[in-house]
Amino acid sequence: MDAAYDAAKVAQPGWAQTPLWKRAELLHKAAALMREHAAPMAAALVAEVAKPAKDAATEVLRSADLISFTAEEGVRRLGEGRALLADSFPGAARSKMSIETRVPLGVVLCVPPFNYPVNLAVSKLGPALIAGNAVVLKPPTQGAGACLHMVACFAAAGFPAGLINTVTGRGAEIGDFMTLHPKVNGISFTGGDTGLEIAKKAAMIPLQMELGGKDCAIVCEDADLDLAAAAIVKGAFSYSGQRCTAVKLVLVLDTVADALVAKVGAKVAKLTVGAPEDNADITALVSPASAKFVEGLAADALAKGALPVAGLTLKREGNLIHPLVLDRVTPDMRLAWEEPFGPVLPIVRVPTVDAAVAHVNASRLALQGCVFSSHIDRALMIADAMSTGTVQINGAPARGPDHFLFAGFRDSGLSSQGVGPSIEFMTKQKSVVINLPSASYATG
Ligand code: G3H
Repeated sequence: MDAAYDAAKVAQPGWAQTPLWKRAELLHKAAALMREHAAPMAAALVAEVAKPAKDAATEVLRSADLISFTAEEGVRRLGEGRALLADSFPGAARSKMSIETRVPLGVVLCVPPFNYPVNLAVSKLGPALIAGNAVVLKPPTQGAGACLHMVACFAAAGFPAGLINTVTGRGAEIGDFMTLHPKVNGISFTGGDTGLEIAKKAAMIPLQMELGGKDCAIVCEDADLDLAAAAIVKGAFSYSGQRCTAVKLVLVLDTVADALVAKVGAKVAKLTVGAPEDNADITALVSPASAKFVEGLAADALAKGALPVAGLTLKREGNLIHPLVLDRVTPDMRLAWEEPFGPVLPIVRVPTVDAAVAHVNASRLALQGCVFSSHIDRALMIADAMSTGTVQINGAPARGPDHFLFAGFRDSGLSSQGVGPSIEFMTKQKSVVINLPSASYATG
């Protein structure tokens, strides 16, 4: 770890002096190499984190596109600054001009999670590099193979030695050492509550964090229920619910609850369960601990009276949890508040939209949410009342497209993401002030 930080510290100043267009050119090369070598990277995602084959291929291509977009966006954003004249402030004379630009943070620690070992790594790496930083990257323990393959594409693209450094290892063992290292100038972390611990300990360095969500879907009585059911099932069960943006709770108005529950149940009953190589909808979760946790949340709800839908049952085989929809979940159940990160979808019936919004706003996690209504003005008012980083109207929560703003409120995160905001996160603002002579230019 020390060697990685030392190398990054030495390489960074030269990289910051490398012309912006040249930094962009290397990122474009890395993106091209990723497209060329997509197949083995996708295969690693299937093997390491049981991502269904089609989704694994999409992740790699999405990542290559993200890198290209970052290169273009970086050239636009970082090539611009701002000049400010002093006399816009009350009482000041036109005798000073401030030139504001953005400069790199220095050495940035990037920590992506297991569920997107490639995409959430490049969403940190790309903005860090275009902005002139050096990087220390800690791949997720599961997903390290795919992540390292991606880094190899960057190496082959010709980035200077020492600029991109990877250190593998378990967060529990090396986490404190790497996050509290004196040479780290910024941290971009995606993961669970570990991020809260990092935020408490890290001192005086910028933090960009995405720490999970309890993304709720509010279904109003005037919603298109077919559209809502389709979006909820896709949102809740893709990649077996292992997405921070997965639908993790449905809040449905009493009057349409029976109809919605029937539609959701019918769709979930058709999901396939099996191997990622076969593109099964539901695959094994990442670890036994994760499966056990999800099982525990569902068992707690069942014991307190939640009702399984469409003949589905709580069934666990090793890391595999079969899909489950639980109706009539109530606030005393853990599932009403906790994030399962697995294929279990709780449904809470509510008497009013106000009650639904109150539940959303009482949640510790506040990444995204969504609202289904056929009246756009109403949907906008509900979206306005929901206190989450993003609210989707008539669609499931999702991070992409990757240039959209992505930010969690409360315990869901710190600092915005998305290509543009991430480039800005990787920089700090600097001003150079020109003090103009008081004499008139006419007199010399
Ligand atoms: O797991 C967290 C990811 O940021 C979610 O990304 O919405 O593209 O699945 P996604």
